[in-house]
Amino acid sequence: MPTPNRSIWPHPTKLQTAQIVDQRWLPHQVVIADLTSVQETAIAIKDMWIRGAPLIGATAGYGMFFAIKEALQTDQPDTTFQKLTQQLLSTRPTAVNLHWAIDRQQKAINQANSPEEKLHIAWKTAGEIVEEDVEICRKMGEHGLSLIESIYQKNPNQPVNILTHCNAGRMATVEWGTATSPIYHAHQKGIPVHVWVDETRPRNQGARITAWELQEAGVPHTVIADNVGGHLMQHGQVDLCIVGTDRTTYTGDVANKIGTYLKALAAWDNGVPFYVALPSTTIDWEIRNGVEEIPIEVRDDEEVTFIQGWDEESQQIKKVRLTPAESPAQNYAFDVTPAKYVTGLITERGVCEASEAGIKGLFPAVKS
Ligand code: MRU
Repeated sequence: MPTPNRSIWPHPTKLQTAQIVDQRWLPHQVVIADLTSVQETAIAIKDMWIRGAPLIGATAGYGMFFAIKEALQTDQPDTTFQKLTQQLLSTRPTAVNLHWAIDRQQKAINQANSPEEKLHIAWKTAGEIVEEDVEICRKMGEHGLSLIESIYQKNPNQPVNILTHCNAGRMATVEWGTATSPIYHAHQKGIPVHVWVDETRPRNQGARITAWELQEAGVPHTVIADNVGGHLMQHGQVDLCIVGTDRTTYTGDVANKIGTYLKALAAWDNGVPFYVALPSTTIDWEIRNGVEEIPIEVRDDEEVTFIQGWDEESQQIKKVRLTPAESPAQNYAFDVTPAKYVTGLITERGVCEASEAGIKGLFPAVKS
């Protein structure tokens, strides 16, 4: 199966159907799944067939098309629509793009007068969210490129070593990725880069997905265990950290995959610049204090007590137990890095300080 360019797209022949890469099986199998209903979309988001904040938003965009379609087939369309919207909203609590996409679709659908128009506008809006994400991530790459370029110019005899955490790559968005977009732009410009890829326990999005994406793009990279980054930074082997985010407060506090905070502390202690790449759709304009107010998803502890991988002998994906059967486990999916540890935010409008002034300087029209 050839690797699709995108993580989500409208089905080329089946009407009112979206297709996704089912990421649970990457990198070992590239499986494509159809989405045709709210139930399927909610499962795909909750059980992480797709994941990554911008892609969760884009998928929810199609989910809202299914919601209005299903609601219009009942005799209580308004109540049903609200219920289905709630079902989508409850899938993953941390990624604010989910709320953003649902809100955008609700506003778009409310503009329409007839059932046909509602369906038309919801499908069109879902497509627009997808296309806009591609363009936003491309622009973030152009802005982030200058950071990589300036490090390279200071020391042109060696590749720029960049550490990233989790997967903020093309499978977390529609196409370019957030953290990986500046890396792709640098690579395409001929700037030598090398990426340290944190494995990102418990679901190993770094080892499975970021490594696969970079491999496919021909970007030199090395997978490391989650706890290696601090050691590398102490020994001058990391020039720059770039990570993604699921929700960033308008004051610059950053929620991202669990373990990001520890990387930021190590970067701070070693004077390594720590950047967060985010589309403006990931900014929470309501929340001031990220540590206290951002809801942190707690997932099934089986993700900690078991691990999944490719069994060479049987040539299939297997799940095996890691821990004593009786040992309890806890599975916090995200943590919050306070703004003071973030060197800057890479957005579609440029790079800014991780602060209210920095963010509002780039996005003055949005009120909080
Ligand atoms: O739990 P996941 O895999 O959805 O978490 C993804 C991340 O933490 C990403 O870093 C984040 O969504 C940024 S995506 C461009």
